[in-house]
Amino acid sequence: MFLAHLLRDAGLAAVVLEQRSRLYVEGRVRAGVLEDGTAQLMERLGLAGRLRREGLVHGGVTLASEHGVFRIDFAALTGRAITVYGQQEVMKDLFDAAEARGIEVVFEAAEVMPHGIDGERPHVTWRADGAEQRLDCDFVVGCDGSHGASRSVIPPGALTTYARDYPFGWLGVLADAPPAAEELIYANHERGFALASMRSATRSRYYVQCALDEAPEAWPDARFWDELTLRLGPAGGGLTRGPALEKTLAALRSSVTEPMRFGRLFLAGDAAHIVPPTGAKGLNLAVADVTLLAAALAEHYAERSDTGLDAYSACALARVWKAERFSWALTRLTHRFPAEGAIERKLQLAELDYLATSRAAQTAFAENYVGLPLESFSLGRG
Ligand code: DHB
Repeated sequence: MFLAHLLRDAGLAAVVLEQRSRLYVEGRVRAGVLEDGTAQLMERLGLAGRLRREGLVHGGVTLASEHGVFRIDFAALTGRAITVYGQQEVMKDLFDAAEARGIEVVFEAAEVMPHGIDGERPHVTWRADGAEQRLDCDFVVGCDGSHGASRSVIPPGALTTYARDYPFGWLGVLADAPPAAEELIYANHERGFALASMRSATRSRYYVQCALDEAPEAWPDARFWDELTLRLGPAGGGLTRGPALEKTLAALRSSVTEPMRFGRLFLAGDAAHIVPPTGAKGLNLAVADVTLLAAALAEHYAERSDTGLDAYSACALARVWKAERFSWALTRLTHRFPAEGAIERKLQLAELDYLATSRAAQTAFAENYVGLPLESFSLGRG
């Protein structure tokens, strides 16, 4: 949807094929942290009216362990901030504006399949209203997630995937209760990771690390609140219990597929890469990908130059790998790994202590958390 708006802004036509219904997309609870660049892009695209009113601007985060609690001050270290605003809300804003601007979005498009991507004139087919539909186009962009069809039409030999599954999951709870604190708390506890986040002044969002084979039903509210309270420790002193509106279990995975292009098919977002949720980079990475891609497509049409398109994969991947590194490092720093022992625990605590006391380490953390700058096409231009 961001890509459709960016292309529209550049005077280019695009059609969005969405497998799900609008209600489903708008109702599905996802992450809620926008990097500075993502919030700025919404502003630039004229999509930030509600974000400005309802988004919660945070100038820092708190990290906690049994050894202590400390804050990393993004504003002081980077001059930038993050905005807490649910991905569902972003989707509502994108859909509303698309409707107003005449951007075509086809919902409930089943069996979407790109064809002819190694030729000059690809096309996409899908089923809607019981009939096969077809759209001929110049380019196809696969923004269809890790299970989408786009990647599957690329010859396997043309792609390399680097992937790792983590040996635990996250139990996520959305609760009708005011947040535990004004800012997010990432807690490393002997019993496992916990995260206190929020959606508004009256709605909190929490996560606890759990075993992958645990069902959400194994976590009645009382067990969840007790465990969360224990893991947050003194940092969670402001915790308020409330009815859990939703409980879901998510697996954690790091994965990157290279390159992010085959012929006239470009991959963006989860279709090319997955990050573990720690650090909330998923949506932001997808937005960065399509920002690069939209500029490259605009250049293709306006200047008859494919420099940007040819550089897209390398440029996007340079940033993707850094976000992968950060998400992986923050996961390693804050979670309990079942196969690891006392020495790894000591090393984690030493790293947290280093982060608590070194301005250099905090600056590195902060600049990654608020979002690394978008690289331009310098790779393609030497
Ligand atoms: C949220 C999710 C994350 O993965 C994270 O690192 C921070 C916040 C959230 O859903 O609010």
